[in-house]
Amino acid sequence: MTGGRLFHWEYEPPPVEHEVFRVEGGAVLRGEVVISGAKNAALKLLAAATLTGERCRFTNVPEIEDVRVMVETLRDLGVVVDHPAPNVYEVASGDVDWLFVPLEAAAKMRASFILLGPLLARFGQVIMSNPGGDRIGRRPVNLHVDAMRALGAEIDYRNGYYFARAPGRLRGAEIRFPNVTVMGTENAMLAATLAEGRTVIRPAAQEPEVDDLIAMLRKMGADVERTAPDTIEVQGRRRLRGAEHSVIPDRIEAGTFVIAAAVTGGEVTLRGAPCDHLGAFLEVVTQMGVQVACGRDTIEVRGAPRGSGAYHAADVMTAPYPGFATDLQPPTCILLTQARGTSRVHETIFEDRLEWLGELARMGADLQVQDGHHAVIRGPSRLHGTTVEIGDLRAGASLILAALAADGTTTIRGAHHVHRGYENIEGKFVGLGARIERLAEGTVIATA
Ligand code: EPZ
Repeated sequence: MTGGRLFHWEYEPPPVEHEVFRVEGGAVLRGEVVISGAKNAALKLLAAATLTGERCRFTNVPEIEDVRVMVETLRDLGVVVDHPAPNVYEVASGDVDWLFVPLEAAAKMRASFILLGPLLARFGQVIMSNPGGDRIGRRPVNLHVDAMRALGAEIDYRNGYYFARAPGRLRGAEIRFPNVTVMGTENAMLAATLAEGRTVIRPAAQEPEVDDLIAMLRKMGADVERTAPDTIEVQGRRRLRGAEHSVIPDRIEAGTFVIAAAVTGGEVTLRGAPCDHLGAFLEVVTQMGVQVACGRDTIEVRGAPRGSGAYHAADVMTAPYPGFATDLQPPTCILLTQARGTSRVHETIFEDRLEWLGELARMGADLQVQDGHHAVIRGPSRLHGTTVEIGDLRAGASLILAALAADGTTTIRGAHHVHRGYENIEGKFVGLGARIERLAEGTVIATA
């Protein structure tokens, strides 16, 4: 029992610092893997629960480090979060003790900024730390701030903090973003649910995680609707109620396992997998020669034999949904190293999201990063084991894929980055026959 709360099942975070993955390449992955709930939906759903004093219950929440950080951040505000069973969270924010999201939360996870909209709309004020950039590039929050100002908020920025106030109630407005922003759309939508009057958001992000948030908000009694593919309209309500929701499956985790099967020459069935949400990605990988069959909620993947050079080169350009997801660019690069010919990658969303390719080159990939947005990859390459370093979670998962496809043993430093977004990733790979373990850095491996 803690603080008079109900007993709750506690997720024990892995000891995250100074851990490495040690991967022995060459295993052919076979079997079934269950896809977890989507990180980028779950974090926003947990934040949405602060729009009401009533209890909200979420199932299929991934047990990952970012969820743990969000739960910790909510509890620090005074929100009661119970965890009665694995993947189930209950949030009750009848009242809060603080309206301050500190730097520690913002530094650990940029998504903590999603609390701006709901806390401002419900409590009329909040102080948010500036989350700054991260390893995939500069990531400003100006569009979130502009959207709140359009809704009538007064926001001052001083010494790394945004001081936000809504004199009276927020007021509905036309919000025009200069470019598509996922969390900007979500923050605006969350705030608008409790504003006075009508809000129109355009262009609104079309990611499935945004629609999952809309589905939850509607269950909470919000009047939110996607009235055109790029338009969301919200009629504000005075109050919202509690609701229950199951998080949609993680399309990025699913895409990662599709590539895992492809680069190891494996045969893998993904269960609970969102084929509908992977259109642009599956189009590229099937054109490259990976065999993919979509069922109602399964994806069956059959790869070409490892090292056969049977895959074709491709050009990949990332774009907002329904385009090719930037979060699937890193795993796709591993497949491109195994394709015959010259492939081009154009990363349009983030400026430093190709930097990690330097680590892939150290494993024997033939590639050039031309600038922050363009890279050329030639294949097929025989990858080999070495020691590499993870800078962010998608690059980290991708280096595991490279290590599975490589000859020999790879040590991947910075394992904790991967646990931010993938539930039990090494367990899932081991279940498919991979040889991967997570070890404290510096562990001496006994040899015969
Ligand atoms: C979300 O980030 C995801 N994160 C990212 O996933 C994902 O890569 C990204 O959307 C794009 O799909 C979460 O949902 C928690 P954006 P978000 O606002 O919302 C610029 C992962 O690995 N921009 O759509 O922060 C921005 O720099 C992560 O799971 C501004 O200029 O991304 C980028 O160029 C990484 N000002 C573009 O817009 C702003 O205020 C799109 O970013 C906001 C964004």
